[in-house]
Amino acid sequence: HPCNISGWLLMLPHRLSSMSISVSWWSEVQMGPPDPILGVSEAYKRDTNPKKINLGVGAYRDDQGKPYVLSCVRKAEAQIAAKKLDKEYLAIGGLGDFTKACAKLALGDDNEVIKSGRNITVQTISGTGSLRIGANFLSRFHTEARDVYLPKPSWGNHTPIFRDAGMQLKAYTYYDPKTCGFDFQGALNDISKIPEKSVIMLHACAHNPTGVDPRPEQWKEIADLVKKRNLLVFFDMAYQGFASGDIDRDAWAVRYFIEQGHNIVLSQSFAKNMGLYGERVGGFTVVCKDAEEAKRVESQLKILIRPIYSNPPMNGARIAATILNTPDLYKEWLGEVHGMANRIITMRELLVANLKKEGSTRNWKHVIDQIGMFCFTGLKPEQVERLTKEFSIYMTKDGRISMAGVTSGNVGYLAQGIHAVTK
Ligand code: LMR
Repeated sequence: HPCNISGWLLMLPHRLSSMSISVSWWSEVQMGPPDPILGVSEAYKRDTNPKKINLGVGAYRDDQGKPYVLSCVRKAEAQIAAKKLDKEYLAIGGLGDFTKACAKLALGDDNEVIKSGRNITVQTISGTGSLRIGANFLSRFHTEARDVYLPKPSWGNHTPIFRDAGMQLKAYTYYDPKTCGFDFQGALNDISKIPEKSVIMLHACAHNPTGVDPRPEQWKEIADLVKKRNLLVFFDMAYQGFASGDIDRDAWAVRYFIEQGHNIVLSQSFAKNMGLYGERVGGFTVVCKDAEEAKRVESQLKILIRPIYSNPPMNGARIAATILNTPDLYKEWLGEVHGMANRIITMRELLVANLKKEGSTRNWKHVIDQIGMFCFTGLKPEQVERLTKEFSIYMTKDGRISMAGVTSGNVGYLAQGIHAVTK
């Protein structure tokens, strides 16, 4: 109706002025940078080159380059669906069947810690959530020392996790760029100077981003020194099974430290070893002096968790618990973890063989020697940039590639690209 239109026009200046007031709340918020790891996936998605490869985020692919859902996971899902379970809230600490099995997987079936009830394990929102609950717990209760020592380098998210929780970040020597291996002496030197009671972060296996792990004899010396320095050990175990293909072998360092009397804290993730990335399944464990201490710690973990996300999601935890607690599925899972680790190891060899075929005369031995999901290639940021721009091969700026994204179909093209930017 014409009258209505003119009425609306009369109101227009008024509407505009009230609109301009309502858009001013965040004018001081500055544009932030993309995430160093997940930002790579966003850039990859925008690329239209059919030959593009994403070796940024650590996510396992099958040899066709497709995301891989484990067969034991599909079977567990079917079993769970058939039970028509309810969807009530979980407890604050998560699903009991899951947390018990989660601790057992890390510590081993007959670990004295579990038998005497001196661990507390809560279900967490995968590895990141576990680290953050741990960091918050330290921030609130480990008040004598605020410093957390990370290996140089460490997973990119470690720094913001601990910093946002109010801890202070320090570092110890770990990687030797000259050998692309472990700088054992450098690590010992630095650790021997860490002030007492500080927190030291250790990657239990398949170090991210370098793929470089200490050998058992080296772990033993580290455990001794850490005890002498009276440091609190925070183990991050995001890749149990992914290093050697054997879940017990990969948990060796964690179990050894506990055996030596270290009352560690531990983060676990089921993103990689069960392929449950988006289900967000993890665990956080505190090994305590005795069962009574564990009870007190548990009460405080619950007080920490409740105002953050109240209680964790159930679906992924049900899947993981079903696999860990059903003998057939557990056996199948061990086989599948082994299969994933093996495919990665084969790709390391194939990448080096293809680099040689391209005519590269560089020493690529570290590609084979490194272990787990990642290879720290030694590529410089400018070389990484060229690989992305000229070949649509995506990786993090530090030269880390996710070996799990390499396939027999793309390894030739990858070698061609790497050779072109390194010759
Ligand atoms: C990685 O380092 O790529 C993975 O741990 C995934 C992540 O969340 O960063």
